[in-house]
Amino acid sequence: MKSYKIAVIPGDGIGEEVMPEAIRVLDLVAGLSGSFQFEYKYFPWGCSYYIEHGRMMAADGLKMLRDFDAILFGAVGSPTVPDHISLRGLRLAICQGFDQYVCYRPSELLPGVRSPLANREPGAIDFVVIRENTEGEYAGAGGRVHGGLPNDIAVETSIFSRLGVERVVRYAFTLAQNRRKRLVSATKSNAQQHALTFWDEIVEEVSKDFSEVRTERVLIDALAARFILSPESLDVVVASNLFGDILTDLGAAICGGLGIAPSGNMNPERTYPSMFEPVHGSAPDIAGRGIANPAGMIRSCAMMLEFLGEGEGAKMIEMSVRSVLQQGAVRTLDLGGSATTTEFTKAVLSHLKKIGGK
Ligand code: NAI
Ligand code: MG
Repeated sequence: MKSYKIAVIPGDGIGEEVMPEAIRVLDLVAGLSGSFQFEYKYFPWGCSYYIEHGRMMAADGLKMLRDFDAILFGAVGSPTVPDHISLRGLRLAICQGFDQYVCYRPSELLPGVRSPLANREPGAIDFVVIRENTEGEYAGAGGRVHGGLPNDIAVETSIFSRLGVERVVRYAFTLAQNRRKRLVSATKSNAQQHALTFWDEIVEEVSKDFSEVRTERVLIDALAARFILSPESLDVVVASNLFGDILTDLGAAICGGLGIAPSGNMNPERTYPSMFEPVHGSAPDIAGRGIANPAGMIRSCAMMLEFLGEGEGAKMIEMSVRSVLQQGAVRTLDLGGSATTTEFTKAVLSHLKKIGGK
């Protein structure tokens, strides 16, 4: 029997609430398969850890995570710790430290879920945003000068490297090639004359290797409008770290909300472990009430299984979540229902048992 070593970082807020539900789903799928199992190791990193230890994760945290087959991440962030410390100290430290340069975020309008956009049928929206995940606007290059004086200055420099841009763009083209063969590159090279013209040039170069893919360069402001006005025209979108971050909340929103959107931070070469997490954050506004939608976290586990080569298990999870959403009897608050986090998961588990023959 195959055994996968999974590092589990529930993190903060609703991260701690949706993670145990996702683990229940994974364990059931493993049991039903009879051919693989999971060995979990939990890491208590996050804002409480910071308050106790003055850091978001152990000093040798990356070394501790290095040999796992994958990482599951809930969410990080709490009103008790400044967000730039919590996000940079944990999530970004792992994404950048493990060169997880592809952030893979699908947006699909699922049956039973209503889009806030008028007259969109299930299936009408179905695209993937590939977000650059290690550099760009989140590289962390910059500083403060003249602190406390009237001429206080802050500099935050975006970093775009040829290697960094080309590999993520190539990944996106390859994906488009295997989907509907349309790629939109998010840019703003009319205003950002150095970095984003560089981005455009690389997209242009790489496009020559993918002659079947129809490539469009779209300015990010117009693209934001297009996400609302004609999301059905999108197949694969490739974007820098910041643009992709913003676009994927928008993508989640038009497909029914942040609660159901999954995400993978991937190192495609598998030199380092990849990390799977929902798109949403720690949602302090609803944390502690047991009402968070666990679907984003559960679907991220399906992405993890797919990445590990357990496509059948991944499909079973995804089908079960879709079926519960479609039936609509068990909905969490964000989708207009009153089911708790646990009740939603129970419905997913019972569907899994049904299709798994147990
Ligand atoms: P958020 O994603 O946590 O919440 C935005 C809104 O969506 C809130 O109203 C929340 O209640 C709702 N929501 C999110 N997930 C939900 C779910 N599963 N079920 C039902 N409703 C859900 O984003 P926000 O409020 O901007 O950030 C809160 C904290 O999370 C901050 O500290 C931020 O830095 C952090 N954050 C962390 C991320 C990560 O760990 N990857 C990503 C985004 C934010
Ligand atoms: Mg985000």
